[in-house]
Amino acid sequence: KSYHENFRPQYHFSPEAHWMNDPNGLVYNDGTYHLFYQFYPDSTVWGPMHWGHATSEDLKNWKNEPIALEPDELGYIFSGSAVVDHNNSSGLGTAENPPLIAMFTYHEPKGAEAKTSDYQYQGIAYSLDNGKSFTKYAGNPVVPNNENLIDFRDPKVFWHEDSNKWILVLVAGDRAMIYNSDNLIDWTYLSEFGKDIGAHGGVWECPDLFPLIVKETGETKWVLFISINPGAPNGGSGTQYFIGDFDGKQFTTNQTDEKWIDLGRDNYAGITYNNLPDEERTFIAWMSNWEYGQETPTEKWRSAMTLPQQVSLHKNEDYFLANTPVASITEGLSEASIKISKEENTSSFSHKDLNQSAVSFELPKPLKDFTIVLGNAEDEKITISFDAQASKYSLDRSKSGLTDFSDKFALPIMEAPADFIDSDSAEFQIFLDASSIEFFADSGANAITAQFFPNKPYTQFSITTEDEVKNLKITPIPSIWK
Ligand code: FRU
Repeated sequence: KSYHENFRPQYHFSPEAHWMNDPNGLVYNDGTYHLFYQFYPDSTVWGPMHWGHATSEDLKNWKNEPIALEPDELGYIFSGSAVVDHNNSSGLGTAENPPLIAMFTYHEPKGAEAKTSDYQYQGIAYSLDNGKSFTKYAGNPVVPNNENLIDFRDPKVFWHEDSNKWILVLVAGDRAMIYNSDNLIDWTYLSEFGKDIGAHGGVWECPDLFPLIVKETGETKWVLFISINPGAPNGGSGTQYFIGDFDGKQFTTNQTDEKWIDLGRDNYAGITYNNLPDEERTFIAWMSNWEYGQETPTEKWRSAMTLPQQVSLHKNEDYFLANTPVASITEGLSEASIKISKEENTSSFSHKDLNQSAVSFELPKPLKDFTIVLGNAEDEKITISFDAQASKYSLDRSKSGLTDFSDKFALPIMEAPADFIDSDSAEFQIFLDASSIEFFADSGANAITAQFFPNKPYTQFSITTEDEVKNLKITPIPSIWK
C-alpha cells in the first residue's frame, strides 16, 4: 500500500514514487503552504529535473499535486524559489489576481555534456491559480549567463521592503551573486559575496538570504544560507550560514568561523518560506546527502524532506541560529504513558511507537556528559552523546541497521560543536520517523539529522547521565498518509 512501505516516513513529506531532491519555491499564499521540489518522475535516481508539487495548510499534512514545471527546449528545471507578486509588478497577472512567480535555473543538458560554459541561466514562470498551473515566461531566460559561469544557479528571490525592490541571490560555484529588480523580469547585478570566506570544499548551492531579530538583543541581522557539496564537516553535503548585514545591495559579515545549520549528514539544500511574517521564518531541507542519496534502500521512492522548522537567531558570545520543528507536528497529540526504569545513572523505557514519535526531556545546565541509545531487539542502535569537556554532540549510526548499500553511509560519526542558549535548563527533542532521526538539543541551538534503515522498528530508549532527567516523555505521531 502506498505510503506504508518498509522505511516509508509517516509524518514527513516524501513523493509517492520516484526521485526527489531539493525543496523549491517555498511560498505561503492564501492559506496554502506550497512545497515544490526537484523531481524526476521516471526513476528512483536523479535525472531530467522537473518541479514536483505538494500543498499543505498546516505544514504537517501534505497533498500531492500535479507536476508544476517540466523541462523544455531551454533545459531541465533546476532549483529555485517563488514569490507572490502582490502589486503585479511583473504585469504577468492583474491587480485583482496577482501572480505567483517561480524563478528557477534552466540547466541545458547538451551544453552541460559538451562542457560549454553557459548552460545554466535563470527563467521564470507564473501562476494565476495559486500554483495549480504555471505558464513559462515567453522572454526566458530573464538572467542569462553572460559571463559563461560553469555553475550559475539556484535563484532565491524575495521582496526587500527597505530598498523597495525584488532581490535575487544565486550562486556561481565559489560565491553568491546579488541582483535587484522592479518587475522580476529585468535584473541588475549588484554585488558578490564569499570568495574568501566560509567553506569551499565543494560547489556553493541553494542560497537563501533573510532578516531575523536576535532574541537576546532585539537587533536585526541578516542570515545567508549556502549549501555546499561536497565539503560539509561530516562528509558530503551540508548547509553553512553567515550572520551579517544587508543594505539592499551588499551582504557583509564579521564572522570568522564556519557555522552549519545542522551537523547531521542528512540536511541539505534547505531554504525558507517566502510571504510569511519574519518571525515565522520556516525552513525545509532535503533529508539526504549526495554521497549516498541515490543508493538508499527504498524501492518505490527516494528520500524525504526534513520536518518544517522554525528558525530563530540568538547571541551568546557570538550569533548563532536555532531551529525546531513547527508546533503543528505534535499539536493536539497526547503523550503515551510509559514506565521509566532507573538503574544507576540510566533511565530507560520501551514503547512500540518509538519509531514514529517525538521524545522530549530536559537537563540542567551547565550540561554534563550524557549518552542516549535508541534501538531495537536486534541490537541495532543509534547512539547520541554529549561530551562536556569537548563541548560537542555526536551521533553514531554505524550499527543502526542496513548500512552496506554504500561505503559512505555508516561513518563518520557525526560531530557537532555545541552552541548554548542562555537558560537554566536545556530542552531536547528527538523525532523518529521510520527511517530518520532529527535531534534538536538545547531548544534547537544544535541539530543533527540522519537517515537510518533498521531491520526492525526501534522500540527502546535510554539515557545515561549523572544529572536528573526531567519531563522525559514520548508522543506517538499518527500517520498523515491514509
Ligand atoms: C542541489 C542541486 C542544485 C541544483 C539541483 C539539481 O542539491 O545540485 O544546485 O539546482 O540540485 O537537481
